[in-house]
Amino acid sequence: MTVTTYSHTPGFYTGDRPQIVTSRFQYEDSYTLDRYLATDGYKGLRAALALSPTEVHDEVTKATVLGRGGAGFPAGVKWGLTPQAVWPRYLVVNGDESEPGTYKDRLLMERDPHQLIEGCLIACYAAGLSQCFLYIRGEMALAQERVAIALNEAYAAGYIGTCILGSKFSVDIVLHWGAGAYVVGEETALIESLEGNRGLPRLKPPFFPAAIGLYGKPTIVNNVETLANLAWLLRHGADEYTKIGTATSPGTRMVAVSGHVKRPGVFEIVNGTTTFRDLIYNEEFCGGIRDDHELKAFVPGGGSAPWFTPDQLDLPFEGRLVGAAGSMLGSGAIMVMDHTTDIPAAALTLARFYANESCGKCTPCREGGTWLMRILQRVVAGFGTHRDLDQLFEVGQTICPGAFPHAASERLGLEAVPFPYKMTTICFVGPSAYVPVHSALTLFRDEFEAKIVKRTFIPVTAIPVTGSAVTALPATADSVEAVGVGQ
Ligand SMILES: Cc1cc2nc3c(=O)[nH]c(=O)nc-3n(C[C@H](O)[C@H](O)[C@H](O)COP(=O)(O)O)c2cc1C
Ligand code: SF4
Repeated sequence: MTVTTYSHTPGFYTGDRPQIVTSRFQYEDSYTLDRYLATDGYKGLRAALALSPTEVHDEVTKATVLGRGGAGFPAGVKWGLTPQAVWPRYLVVNGDESEPGTYKDRLLMERDPHQLIEGCLIACYAAGLSQCFLYIRGEMALAQERVAIALNEAYAAGYIGTCILGSKFSVDIVLHWGAGAYVVGEETALIESLEGNRGLPRLKPPFFPAAIGLYGKPTIVNNVETLANLAWLLRHGADEYTKIGTATSPGTRMVAVSGHVKRPGVFEIVNGTTTFRDLIYNEEFCGGIRDDHELKAFVPGGGSAPWFTPDQLDLPFEGRLVGAAGSMLGSGAIMVMDHTTDIPAAALTLARFYANESCGKCTPCREGGTWLMRILQRVVAGFGTHRDLDQLFEVGQTICPGAFPHAASERLGLEAVPFPYKMTTICFVGPSAYVPVHSALTLFRDEFEAKIVKRTFIPVTAIPVTGSAVTALPATADSVEAVGVGQ
């Protein structure tokens, strides 16, 4: 048996933690059918087929498997939202992962593709879905290759196709490669893309994919990690699953950590109880901040999540608590910034991503995101004004009117404003451009102020104007702003 340790990537093996989705990551051949079968592979499917679809569905509902794609909606509840007697109905697997900082689904597909396939089969059986479409992001070449090979292996071995394992259950799984657009991760844009259209989000409500989705039929869209949980769950049962984590956040969670930590990587943590401090500082996870620097800020749930500071380190990975504290767990990605970070520049990096990824369908996102980016660019380049800082908030209000969530700050005497926000856009890309701008400006306004240059005009006494010498008074910062210098 070959055991490989991946020193700087996922699933570190130190510590005695439960492993629901990363248990095979230690094997060099973790992605093969042979390894999968040697490590309880497809036993969850066999256990499911021994039950009725309703019983399997009930087990998943009882386990409260929260969606891992961002919104945290329970999978069992979602499966129950499809209308009665409308056929066919589909499963769409969201493997388009592109939220800044997020790379957990890629590893699940690269390292354990059969676990995902088994999860898809269990979901299709439980929810009566006749066909599965597995959509993988365009850039993930290795994931695409390994999932494709695994699908061929599983078809050949009778796990996919007609009368699976001698039962009456039949399903096909189609592999689809995306072209690499962030917005296509949004479920309705993904469905549009699968239908061969441009990947633009659909307006919802009134119609959610569970009611009207792919080809106008009921469609369940689930995240890769959500589905990867199902094989273990069916092998061990909901009671064992809910013994891990807390009542509101059972099981484990994959968290990708990047930025200024000593050991970045993807870690499978216990849901609901592991804190941000555990994850960033404990030796079994990231082992602290690089060069023992101080922590300045961290993004707790992918680039779309409002920022936290050391004040929030002791919060556990629990969606409601994190929401009340002014942010969200989102896609399971933490980006860590140490005290050397140029905060306005970091905010610009994120805002630029979302502005560039706007599909352009709604005006506040298309125009507002670009304005946020341009104003920030000016400020970061040293040409900003105090008026620019106010204008960033004003533009943000056109995308997200009203109070906007942010974390509490002891240093600033700020109370938290809880998640979520209101929005004028079809999807979350528009607000996501504002999130880093708002967090950075609210929590670190002094750093933006420091970039506002106090310009002084050079005296022009030596230049003759209409025959006489004119003496220019040195300009104050305010008078520079009044004429909009740098805009
Ligand atoms: C702009 C945007 C991008 C998204 N990207 C992803 C993604 O890459 N992967 C994903 O699973 N969900 C993504 N989502 C969430 C999906 O719309 C959807 O809620 C999710 O796939 C449902 O799966 P779950 O219930 O298993 O979490 C995104 C949402 C938005 C608004
Ligand atoms: S919010 Fe942005 S990305 Fe989303 S639909 Fe509107 S324009 Fe497109």
